[in-house]
Amino acid sequence: MAELNKFSKTLTQEVTNPAAQAMLYGIGLKEEDFIKPQIGIASTGYEGNPCNMHLNGLSVYVKQGVQANEMVGLIFNTIGVSDGMTNGNDGMRYSLPSRDIIADSIETVVAAQWYDGVIAVVGCDKNMPGAIMAMARLDRPAIMVYGGTIRSGHYKGQKLDIVSAFEALGKKFANNISDEDYKGIIQNSIPGQGACGGMYTANTMASSIEAMGLSLPFSSSYPATHEGKQEECKKIGAAMKRLLELNITPKDIITKKSLENALTLVMALGGSTNAALHYLAIARAADIPLTLDDIQAISDRVPFIADLKPSGKYFMEDMLEIGGVPAVTKYLFEKGYIHGDCITVTGKTVAENLAEAPDLNFETQKIVFPIETPIKVTGHIQVLYGNLAPTGSVAKITGKEGLTFDGEAKVCEHESEIIDMLAKHEIKPGHVVVIRNAGPKGGPGMSEMLKPTSAVMGAGLGDKIALITDGRFSGGTHGFVVGHITPEAFDGGPIALVKDGDRISIDANTRQLTLHISDEEMATRKAAWVQPAPRFTKGMLGRYIRTVKSASEGCVTDEA
Ligand code: FES
Repeated sequence: MAELNKFSKTLTQEVTNPAAQAMLYGIGLKEEDFIKPQIGIASTGYEGNPCNMHLNGLSVYVKQGVQANEMVGLIFNTIGVSDGMTNGNDGMRYSLPSRDIIADSIETVVAAQWYDGVIAVVGCDKNMPGAIMAMARLDRPAIMVYGGTIRSGHYKGQKLDIVSAFEALGKKFANNISDEDYKGIIQNSIPGQGACGGMYTANTMASSIEAMGLSLPFSSSYPATHEGKQEECKKIGAAMKRLLELNITPKDIITKKSLENALTLVMALGGSTNAALHYLAIARAADIPLTLDDIQAISDRVPFIADLKPSGKYFMEDMLEIGGVPAVTKYLFEKGYIHGDCITVTGKTVAENLAEAPDLNFETQKIVFPIETPIKVTGHIQVLYGNLAPTGSVAKITGKEGLTFDGEAKVCEHESEIIDMLAKHEIKPGHVVVIRNAGPKGGPGMSEMLKPTSAVMGAGLGDKIALITDGRFSGGTHGFVVGHITPEAFDGGPIALVKDGDRISIDANTRQLTLHISDEEMATRKAAWVQPAPRFTKGMLGRYIRTVKSASEGCVTDEA
């Protein structure tokens, strides 16, 4: 059997570490604890966000399960920021960088404190990829516990979630909602703890990480307030013990095949475009080559089958009733879309786990469509190139809005400008709104366009305009949108050269994003372009601008 305390024994067994041993007695360990493996329990819990407010509580259940399995559990915290609350007002600049701070924090504590394994209890969008990147870097036995999706809110017989609040703002701009109803929606959209309730980024990452094998089956399906979530936390200790005994580490679990499984779930469920960014980064942390073209190839072969928000009808909480993510993964496995031989945190393979999963019942459930009659025959994530995105961009095209768009450019130098333009009715049907200087360096931090896109929807323009940006889109976004445009404006990418009135076409058939000006005109504009001064030169954002790679490389910050 593997040596279970191979890292912590450096502190607990070596005579040259008396200070460390004295400190371990100081925190309450007994002599018999010194031979036990030590497990770091990383919580991104904090009080200020529904996605994270309950995670410290869940960590206590995790610790109980760890201690009950003859290991020492030691809880520590890392940061988190709320994507829902950072949106707009420039706070969003901190959101994507927070992913790498979470990764760095977990790596730092687990490595410095000599923990033998790590359990990450995580909730909001950036928590999950940050934790998995750290696990890959550390490569010690590791399990992720998802804090769970939120329950839906209710107002006047309508089910609500966070996007309802943003869309209410758009309706307000369009004078389509009373003050009473506006307030009613804001007050009732978020009924308590849990991550945003559609197939947005948090639920996308949780579902796909479960399919990748780094969380227990059903981790992504139990809502935050479901009793199954506490039960899962208590079971983690036994699972971690098994991983230590079998010496199964994240690099055994994160493989090209398991990344394909994860991305298959993203496509089948209609998940967030952010998944492209995060899986590029996770793959790099695990030293596995994965490119935008690999993601496109998976999108080409996997049908989009789940009628979940933002483009569909149902919430993540509804998934549990039909068998949760295990039932969907089992169905995809039976249809030949999932690799069954990948090892997972249960110590079993994907196929062995799925043998115990429930079956989808196509007579009774309406959320998941049969593969033969999908919502769309291929995935919704499309990688576009062309003279506006020479090194790639990522679009979410569900087909509902069509596959091509041709229109006149309306340029916003900052995302907030679109809100003013909408209020003044300057955005008209047929416009391609270009939001630039929102990239990883230019933003900095590659803001999500949740506020602009929701406001566009609320204003009734969702199917009448397109929106392109070097920033990102929230998982809550729907409509004709292209993001992650590279090179970004800050680096002099062609998006920096667009002018109001230029013709732009988006073609998901040919995968081209085209600015219809001549090469000569493009060269003239490029010659006249001057790189803007970075918006920050010091502090975390200053360092981020200096270290971040492009969106097509996952926006990683730990590579030369
Ligand atoms: Fe945390 Fe949406 S704000 S998942």
